Amino acid sequence: MTATKKNRGPSWVANAIFYEVYPQSFLDTNGDGIGDLPGVIAKLDYIRSLGCDAIWLNPCFESPFGDAGYDVSDFYKVAPRYGTNADLKRLFKEAHKRGLRVCLDLVAGHTSTEHPWFKQSAKVAKNKLTHRYVWTDSVWQGAGLPAISGFSERDGAYVTNFFHFQPALNYGFAKPDPKKPWQLPVEHPDCLATREEMKNIMRYWLDAGADGFRVDMASSLVKDDTDFKETMGLWADMRAMYDSEYPEAVLIAEWSDPARAIAAGFHIDFLIHFNDPAYTSLFRSEPERVLFRFFENIPPSFFDSKGQGDIRVFLDYYLKHYRKTRGAGHISIPTGNHDIMRLAEGRTMDELKVAFTFLLTMPGVPYIYCGDEIGMRYVSGLISKEGGYNRTGSRTPMQWSSGKNAGFSTAKAKDLYLPIDPTKNRPTVETQETDPESLLNHLRLLSKLRRKHPALGGDGDFEPLYAEKNYYPFIYRRTLGAETIVVAVNPSAQAVSADIRPGKLSPNPMSLFSHGSTLKRTKSGWKITMAGISFGIFKFDAQ
Ligand code: NOJ
Ligand code: CA
Repeated sequence: MTATKKNRGPSWVANAIFYEVYPQSFLDTNGDGIGDLPGVIAKLDYIRSLGCDAIWLNPCFESPFGDAGYDVSDFYKVAPRYGTNADLKRLFKEAHKRGLRVCLDLVAGHTSTEHPWFKQSAKVAKNKLTHRYVWTDSVWQGAGLPAISGFSERDGAYVTNFFHFQPALNYGFAKPDPKKPWQLPVEHPDCLATREEMKNIMRYWLDAGADGFRVDMASSLVKDDTDFKETMGLWADMRAMYDSEYPEAVLIAEWSDPARAIAAGFHIDFLIHFNDPAYTSLFRSEPERVLFRFFENIPPSFFDSKGQGDIRVFLDYYLKHYRKTRGAGHISIPTGNHDIMRLAEGRTMDELKVAFTFLLTMPGVPYIYCGDEIGMRYVSGLISKEGGYNRTGSRTPMQWSSGKNAGFSTAKAKDLYLPIDPTKNRPTVETQETDPESLLNHLRLLSKLRRKHPALGGDGDFEPLYAEKNYYPFIYRRTLGAETIVVAVNPSAQAVSADIRPGKLSPNPMSLFSHGSTLKRTKSGWKITMAGISFGIFKFDAQ
């Protein structure tokens, strides 16, 4: 069964707020310089205090860590540096006690070359894992896809999904070329066996207490699948397993094409930096465009005090996907993640507050990347760690306090997984806890508002009220039942105003949370006047 409006999966998802934990950089409890699972357990109350009720944990399984754990060598075993399987089960239990759910990261498309499956498939003699990965049948033959030749005695090249040590698991080809017999059809028993194995991995951890999976590179599984039909069929099959065996578990895509991902069966898809410049046009700063070479030709970001962005680049794409997925699944616009530059890059705390106001009042499921809640900065100039390259600067350890190593670890500074941001005034949780005006407390207020007012949650309707090409502010309304909430954000440094006609609304709106913006009645509607870098959240009741 694919996602339909009637069958949209677990009800808790619509109002969830997620927190992404990058385990190696979160909290080190045994002084070896690397974050660990007991560290995540120690901070569950903190995560809950943010108003979050779910966690996405980046890969924590055994791995040579060539790509920070996205190169798994045993899906059934926690990496010793993070702890044991028992620690992970304890994490599930302790999280559940506090009303938090825990989702794991499923690297479904590839493994490490160190995985025993791969070693077995690299053998010359035919065996039951010969087709577990995509191999050509001659080292001299190009695969038409990125591939590595000359790795083993087996004659052939293996197709890679990402780095050279991440061989692609074999889920088949959408339209196998009859002249290339190594391209197996999706329904080939060996491709179906790969699929079943992935299901078993999910079952194993869901049975152990996990609440779902974020699926890495979810669109990459079936090869040469230009219209994604076969890939979508594969996920519909996985979703059927969720519906029948784990109806309370969530399936989250890293696809960045919500209309497709949700039609395929995912409950949530991220709107992030690939496939389309929509996300990039909101947040990505000039240095990131240069460093990460994303969408070099897009207009400047909307959330930028220069005020040269264009909300329509985001909105036209977003509305298309929102309309197609409404009622069937959720689009998630994260504050950031471990693959992109920190949201704080090039932004002041006040600017970050405006961005957070938008992120926590949009439909879908908000995701806070650990450290973004205090405005942690991108640390530039770091040597690549575990395949991070330019992503490394967004992966530095959490800054908990003013203590040794910012409270992350008792190890010697030189032994830390990555150095702490060396900036003198680096933000910390400790200082922001006591400052009612801090970004941390701003986020807490927003998540409280989101919980208190279901119109702001995943089920509330969304309608732009003012969203003009090359103009600020951006104003939208969220409605559920008798409640309408109007949200206005002005990330630009210029004072602006806008007339809105939201239809029949009560004459006495209430400001729920505003900074620098006022709302006045006009003959035909309302006028919102906004200072530079400001926001306003106003509640109307139905007349
Ligand atoms: C996406 C992950 O988020 C990223 O960190 C990883 O390097 C690639 N997929 C490859 O698995
Ligand atoms: Ca540790």
